[in-house]
Amino acid sequence: MHHEKPMNEMPVMHESEGIVLFHPHVPERAIEGVTEVLHSRWIGQGPKVAQFEKEFTQRFAGAGTSIAVGSGTDALHLAYILAGLKPGDQVIVPVFTCTATNIPFLYMGVIVRFADVDPETLNISVPHVRALMNEKTKAIVCVHYGGLPCDMDELHAIAKEYNIPVIEDAAHAPGATYKGKKIGEISPFTMYSFQAIKHITTGDGGMLTIQDHSLIPMAERIRWFGIDRSNKQKGTWENDITEVGYKYQMTDISAAMGLASLHEFDDILSHRQKLLKPIKLDWQVRTE
Ligand SMILES: Cc1ncc(COP(=O)(O)O)c(C=O)c1O
Repeated sequence: MHHEKPMNEMPVMHESEGIVLFHPHVPERAIEGVTEVLHSRWIGQGPKVAQFEKEFTQRFAGAGTSIAVGSGTDALHLAYILAGLKPGDQVIVPVFTCTATNIPFLYMGVIVRFADVDPETLNISVPHVRALMNEKTKAIVCVHYGGLPCDMDELHAIAKEYNIPVIEDAAHAPGATYKGKKIGEISPFTMYSFQAIKHITTGDGGMLTIQDHSLIPMAERIRWFGIDRSNKQKGTWENDITEVGYKYQMTDISAAMGLASLHEFDDILSHRQKLLKPIKLDWQVRTE
């Protein structure tokens, strides 16, 4: 690894500054990667984004596909659109999370129903999810708070009864596993954030892993105004926009940072694990 300072070297802190909780981790290789991109023709969405998506899939998404976007919030909005959520639909979300989990529902006119969190795990309470379910519920969103996975079997069992998707907010959980499966390969949609203090940072950025390959062309269009960019690159200049899209793509500058962190992800994760006193959940005890 190439660091200016070892990751565990605490910065000097003065009493008046309070306690420093987070430092962005920027590998030296990220600086080299960004410099290389800045010397190239592609600084927007180009080959580095494609490479980052491919390597991210290999690491986290199992048989799925990864779509890189400008933030974790973009990734969540994209997931909610791809899940087919419409104005007036209801979704169940944990009451304890970042605003980003819910704000896209306000863009969409989707009704948020807050489920309590379990006081021990701070993750969504399965019994309360069950109590909130009704015919208007069109998705369950769960957040792996602090990187601790939710009880996915239980949430999937409820979702299956109602034939609706589970959408995972894994902003805190790259590298986490649930019963031997990677977070990122379990649910139809899993979102990651590369905001400044996350495991992998691109300044701001996000990724959506999608298990249903038939949704990928739509995901790519929605990320780019609703335009089929691949057709455009093949020389088709008519831009028929048949659905509302957004400007949600990642740039090669960000992807170069993301790739560098991905390449040293094992060290990043083990450093974070060293800082944590883990708790054991029922399902972890059962499977060991
Ligand atoms: C749980 C959770 N969800 C979503 C987000 C949003 O991600 P972003 O800031 O990349 O949009 C964050 C953090 O920023 C988060 O902590």
